[in-house]
Amino acid sequence: MKISEICTVLDRLYLFGAQEEYDNSGPQILFEDETAGNILIALDIDAAVLEEAVVKKCNLVITHHPLIFNPLKSINYSDKHGRLIAELVLNKISVISVHTCLDRKYPLFLGELLGFRNQTVFEPEISSDARGYGSIGYLSGKTVFSEFLKHMKTRLNSDYILYSGDESRLINKAVIINGSGSSFLKKSADLNADLLITADMKFHNAKEAELYGICLADIGHYDSEKMFKKIIKNDLHEHTKLDDCSIILSDEEKNPIKVYLEM
Ligand SMILES: [Fe+2]
Repeated sequence: MKISEICTVLDRLYLFGAQEEYDNSGPQILFEDETAGNILIALDIDAAVLEEAVVKKCNLVITHHPLIFNPLKSINYSDKHGRLIAELVLNKISVISVHTCLDRKYPLFLGELLGFRNQTVFEPEISSDARGYGSIGYLSGKTVFSEFLKHMKTRLNSDYILYSGDESRLINKAVIINGSGSSFLKKSADLNADLLITADMKFHNAKEAELYGICLADIGHYDSEKMFKKIIKNDLHEHTKLDDCSIILSDEEKNPIKVYLEM
């Protein structure tokens, strides 16, 4: 399959046109007439992922977060981002990013993973109730917050969860938003959710959560989105005929946030 055909499939699947205004989902570097070799999937592309692509003979990298987010004014080989782009081009590696358009296709995936039921889309698109941003979901009964934190850590296989709120509170209704969703605290509290599950919590978000009387769990940006890699792989297998190349999930990519725990 040509790279351009895979790009068309990704557009058909995730609707590049439905991305957020600030986003840059879609082709980042495109050698459209090249035939796809192996395909590497990562949340982000950096020097380690580039090297992995070269070693594993991948000439297409599909990422969640766009390689080019802010408009480029120059490509300078002396700076890290410029060098990364130049090296990708020199190695004839195409990059396609599926960011908010992918979020919007799978608003319920994280809630499902964490065991929520009767989910609805938190911010549905006008044209479709099934697409949108985040979800509202219910547990089958009421669970003590501290127990639910433990459950989430196991389900996500994560190193840490940051949280604010009363550990003994009973949780039933939650708003679940992958990536940075702390700005939805007030709306979640207005919906009478017991808990907002998201990532990238700041100090003032925790204070705000106390003020609104809602629990807040920061499950980490990486851990809240790492399962997108598998989702993209499954979608490609289902919607393309890529018998002659492999789709590889990056294992060089690691959560850049590390936790220090005193021994
Ligand atoms: Fe993200």
